[in-house]
Parts: sequence; C-alpha cells; structure tokens
Amino acid sequence: MAFTFTSDEIAALTQRAAQVAENSYSPYSHFRVGAAILLAADERQKGAIVAGTNVENASYRLTCCAEQSAIAAAVALYGPQIRIRAVAIVNLNHEACAPCGACRQTILEFATPETVVFFPNAAGETVSSTIAKMLPAAFNLQRE
Ligand code: THU
Repeated sequence: MAFTFTSDEIAALTQRAAQVAENSYSPYSHFRVGAAILLAADERQKGAIVAGTNVENASYRLTCCAEQSAIAAAVALYGPQIRIRAVAIVNLNHEACAPCGACRQTILEFATPETVVFFPNAAGETVSSTIAKMLPAAFNLQRE
C-alpha cells in the first residue's frame, strides 16, 4: 500500500519544488528542475520538507539532478537515517519530467515500500507512482 496524500499536501510539496527550481543552475540545458522531499513523521524528521535543484557543470556528466541535490541536503540536515515518504518533481519548462534512472536508484536508497513520487506528465498534470513500481528489479546491497 502506498502512502496517501491530500491535494493540499501534494500542492505544498510541488510548490516547494517549483520555488527551488527558480534557483536552478542550468546554463547548458536551461531545463530548470526542482525536487521536494517529504520526510518521515518521526521525532527527528518531523515530516519536514527539504528541497533541491539541478546543478549543472561544464563537464556535463558531473551535473547533479534536483532529486540528488534534495536528498544530499536532507541527509546533511537530518542525518543518515532519513526516510522519504514522498518526492515531488517539477520543472519550469512545462515538460513531462519523470525522475531519471539514476535518481530513481538514489530515491530508493532512502525510500520505504510505500514511498510515492509525484511528477508532471506530458499533459502537464501531476501524476504519481510508487518508487517500487518505477524501479523494478532494483539493485540492493545488505546494509550493515
Ligand atoms: N534533471 C534533473 O534534475 N532531474 C531528473 O530527473 C532529470 C534531469 C536535470 C539534469 C540536467 O540539469 C537537466 O535536467 C537536463 O537533463
């Protein structure tokens, strides 16, 4: 069973993602992406939202996606035990924008089986799926 969210909660998450996308460093692609992560509701994470944007580099492959930036910020702020309840991804280019494969693997690292991903489809609607559905047969290692 995936986590469920009210339309207000989804709007708050996508709004944070849209805000941070304004800070995108994307002089090469001009594709401005924002990602907002809703953390677990426990004592430490308190359902906080942490956002990140894409940061490109002249050496293109060093580009950091918005999702990865947001996750790095969340770990820095809340520690290595973070658990993601939901991620919202938006872009300011009005394009469909499902997370790339690398970002799916990065989200999965901190996900639960219920984690939901919200992203815009080709019609500009916010659609959702679970990370488990978006990355079947994922690579996993036992954590010590
Ligand atoms: N990008 C993201 O930030 N997230 C994704 O899931 C897909 C792509 C960024 C990377 C690059 O700066 C630009 O979008 C075009 O690929």
